Amino acid sequence: MPEKRQFRAIKGTRDILPPDSALWNWFEHTAREVFESYSFREIRLPIFEQTDLFARSVGAESDIVSKEMFTFRLPDGSERPASDESNNSQSGEQVSLRPEATASTMRAYIEHGMHVLPGNVKLYCIGPMFRRERPQKGRYRQFYQVNAEILGPSDAPAIDAELLEMLLVFFQRVGLRRTTLYVNSIGDRNCRPPYVELLRRELLKVKDQLGPDSQRRIETNPLRVLDSKLPQEQEIIAKLPRISDHLCADCREHFAKLKDELKLRGITYEENWRLVRGLDYYTRTTFEVIAEGLGSQNAVCGGGRYDGLVELLGGPPTKGIGFAIGSDRAILSLQESGKLPELPGLDVFVAWMGEPTYATAVSLARKLRESRLSVELPGEEMKFKKSLNLADKLGARYALIIGSDEVASGTYTLKRLADADQKKLSEYELLEYLESEKRGTRG
Ligand code: HAM
Repeated sequence: MPEKRQFRAIKGTRDILPPDSALWNWFEHTAREVFESYSFREIRLPIFEQTDLFARSVGAESDIVSKEMFTFRLPDGSERPASDESNNSQSGEQVSLRPEATASTMRAYIEHGMHVLPGNVKLYCIGPMFRRERPQKGRYRQFYQVNAEILGPSDAPAIDAELLEMLLVFFQRVGLRRTTLYVNSIGDRNCRPPYVELLRRELLKVKDQLGPDSQRRIETNPLRVLDSKLPQEQEIIAKLPRISDHLCADCREHFAKLKDELKLRGITYEENWRLVRGLDYYTRTTFEVIAEGLGSQNAVCGGGRYDGLVELLGGPPTKGIGFAIGSDRAILSLQESGKLPELPGLDVFVAWMGEPTYATAVSLARKLRESRLSVELPGEEMKFKKSLNLADKLGARYALIIGSDEVASGTYTLKRLADADQKKLSEYELLEYLESEKRGTRG
């Protein structure tokens, strides 16, 4: 006999248990409903891709790619049965668990020639992402995103505004309030490089007053210094040149039109010139939504425009914009606000008594389930009191009592557990009553 051993979920991963899982299903279902009403369609993507795909798109120097990916090599010739040796292949293809979904969506868009599809291609994807970050509240190594992307020939600011409208409609539909939308434009390949150079020159002047991360970023990615939360750097950053004063005419016009479009839709936002985002592919519009009650990990959504990314990955000229909602954080914020929807639980507990009633109990349970009711049928006989006790503990709304009298008369006792109200009903009446009650037409 092997020695007994217990296992725990790996640090930074977690189990989502009932009843929370119902909340998650409702959250994701609501996203599907809202997104499909804006004519988005779902794309399902692999969990791992070639590491280079993420390096090229998210950026080799970004934190995500340079230190947070789970990377491994696939054994050479995947048809060979895996042995310990081949699992540790030194020469096979290098792949990574996806840290985000935009790169994979672009890869699929190009691979399947989706640019020939009519109109804008609007895709959403729901699933887990993986980043080797230091776990804390709202930050996990396996976390979940609801990701949306719009790809096509146009970069009209109306597209950006409609995407933001959809995002906020979704947050409103799930009841995520007390959020702030931050918007910025980080320019394009014409106006950003000279701004970044200017920023670098200014940062070099104050280098010794900056922390080690920002010092490093002067070389690798000066824009990211603007992201810094270090208290001692805040005053210095406030005096740095702002991109809004250095946008080219086209970018300035795009940003101005975006703001008009947001106004037209009644969307409130704050402009935040320091919002640069930690992924390299962004151009022009960037945005983030933060929610209250989450502590330091308070960004519940991030996104922006990435014109040129499809070309960088070998595809045709394409404009693009998208966002990803962090489901873990959004759901945490909903839970902390205490305003959760009432989600369907157990409708009926079948309390059968005596072996001869069992066949009737099995048949009634099946019919109730066919009527889309959630039913619990104990597989073993239980004492009446114990049965009702369990029904209560399971949170059932009704107990259906089936004794030999009920079977003989063909009428069953339905007991509402909240107030002990009892009704005697025939099979037909029972189904009719519970179905219409479930639809909310009866009290
Ligand atoms: P991101 O800002 O890296 O953007 O991530 C989006 C959201 O995912 C964050 O705002 C946060 O809510 C959540 N998130 C990120 N890391 C973690 C973590 N370790 N634990 C829990 N939640 C986390 C992107 O991923 C881009 N691909 C968004 C995008 C789509 N841009 C254009 N299209």
